[in-house]
This record gives sequence, structure tokens and C-alpha cells, in this order.
Amino acid sequence: MPKNLSGRNFLKLLDFTTEEIRYLLDLSKELKRLKLTNTPHRYLEGKNIVLLFEKTSTRTRCSFEVAGRDLGMGVTYLDPGSSQMGKKESIEDTARVLGRMYDGIEYRGFDQSIVEELAAYAGVPVWNGLTNEFHPTQMLADLLTIEENFGYLKGLNFVFMGDAGNNVGNSLMVACAKMGINFTACGPKKQMPDAELIEVCKKIAAENGCTITLSEDVKEATKDAHVIYTDIWVSMGEPDSVWEERINLLSPYQVNKEVMENAAEGAIFMHCLPSFHDLKTTIGKDIYDKFGLKEMEVTDEVFESRASKVFDEAENRMHTIKAVMYATLK
Ligand code: CP
Ligand code: NVA
Repeated sequence: MPKNLSGRNFLKLLDFTTEEIRYLLDLSKELKRLKLTNTPHRYLEGKNIVLLFEKTSTRTRCSFEVAGRDLGMGVTYLDPGSSQMGKKESIEDTARVLGRMYDGIEYRGFDQSIVEELAAYAGVPVWNGLTNEFHPTQMLADLLTIEENFGYLKGLNFVFMGDAGNNVGNSLMVACAKMGINFTACGPKKQMPDAELIEVCKKIAAENGCTITLSEDVKEATKDAHVIYTDIWVSMGEPDSVWEERINLLSPYQVNKEVMENAAEGAIFMHCLPSFHDLKTTIGKDIYDKFGLKEMEVTDEVFESRASKVFDEAENRMHTIKAVMYATLK
């Protein structure tokens, strides 16, 4: 059934019902079909959006830019450090100024409270392009990618390996609970999602006939898993000083051949990216020099394997972000 999300913000998946998420996924599929068949879809011609980034990005920024242009909109990008926000102008004032000029605002940065405050004052839809706590646009791309692979979502077994309490781990727990996917966070106790969020998700999961499990045992957690997902061990905004502790804590939770072989037949590997799976990055080289690790959260073998769906996932960022903008601005 068509949903009316016009004028809504997109700040976290907790704000959306299962049916609304389903609607956004179906809309994404239709917009992907239009893009892949070169069918024009400039449905938001004449509108303008602004992308406010306080942290760096490749996928999210490019997805908003390309999706915005495909929909016929003008796009302004403000890079980390080039707006007045926070330094000379409050979040509230920034929101009120941008809301007078633009039809929609994307924000990537630090506390979730910042994007919530922008949304409270902007008067136009605000979209969360990643905060310390949540990464909701990533979730739609991940759900779409899973559904493209298996044909359905409900009843699948999903395992997040490693730093399960980060923005991506938190958001995946919510996404799975909303869509009836059994979610397991597999990692050390110290890196688990916030206890309050776990309780909220357990309630949502119960309503949707699925489970939330926390496990420190890789063999047990990954057995019968359909999706194995991981993310980097130190997220943007965290200090470099935490690398050593994270490497010690999270190395046992690396996604490698043994993990994938222990999972269900036909299991897929997913990662939001960017990923440290080789020595072709400056941080990767630096970690190798300091700690002797050639690959971190995932081995290069798994990353490059047929089970790896990471580039489909990256492409789907664009189609799903387009759906969010179209649904909220039309
Ligand atoms: N996955 C993701 O959000 O990537 P970027 O940091 O490149 O935007
Ligand atoms: N957890 C990562 C996700 C990057 C897309 C970070 O916040 O850096």
C-alpha cells in the first residue's frame, strides 16, 4: 500500500514502521529499475538540497549528489569545516537559515542530538547521513541487497561481527528487528550495543517474530547464518589511541574463510565500507607498521570472494537514498 512520507525526516529507523520501511524498499527497487533502464525520473525538478558533512564520505556524499541530480534537483555540498555551524553559528540558527533556502538537508557528523536538533528547527525534511549512534540510509541499502540475494527478509539469520555497538551495528539491530530478521551481535561484551537500545529492539523483534542475540562465541553465533556483516574496528571521530585496544578485543571476530564456511550454505558477506582488507590505504599501512596486521575486520580472501556483496551494497546506497528523498520531498 502506498505510504505518505511527504514532509517527514529520516533520522533513524526506530521512527519508521515496518510497513513504511517496506514502502521505501519497494520504491528503491522501482527507482533502481528506472535508473538501469535509462528512464528519466526528474520528479523533483526545481527543488534544491544541501549536504552538510562534518565527517568525510565517499558513498553517502556521492549517493546524495547523484540521486539528487537524477531527480532533477540542485545540490550544494558543504564539506567538513566549511560551514559556520558549531563554530560561529548554533545548530538551531543554521537549521533556520538552510531551511529558508533548501527543500531538504542531509547531515553527517557527530551526536544524534545534532541531526535531531537540525530537524526540529529546519522546517524541511532532514536526512541522517551518519551520526555516532545511527546510519539509517545505510540500512535501506543493506536490506535491499539482502532481499535481492535471498528474495525475502523475514526469518533470515543475520550476524554482525566485531564492533557491534557502533553506528552501523546499532542500526542493523534496529533494521533486523523491524523486518523480522534474526539478529546476532557477535563480539566482546565491551563493544556491544547500548543495553537500553537492545531492550527496545527485543520488544520490536518479538512483535515481528524474530530474535536479538548477543554472543561472544564465533562458532556458535555464525552457524546457520545467511548474512555475515562487519564494519571497521575504529569509527570516524574516535581517537587513534583506541586502535591497540580494539585490535586486541576484536581480532578474534575477524571475518575469514573459517567463519564463512561455518555459516549457512549460500551465505553472503556484507560491509558498509570503507574496509581495511589489505595494505592499499595509509591507515592500513600504518596499522601494519605498528601492529603487524595485514588485514583487519575481514580478510582479503573473503572481501574478494563470490560471497561478498559489498559493491552491490555500495551501489544500492544511491537507489535507496533516492527513494528517501523522493518519498519525503514529493
Ligand atoms: N558506507 C558509508 O557510509 O560510506 P562513506 O563513509 O564513504 O559515505
Ligand atoms: N562505523 C563507521 C561507518 C562508516 C560508514 C564509522 O562511523 O566510521
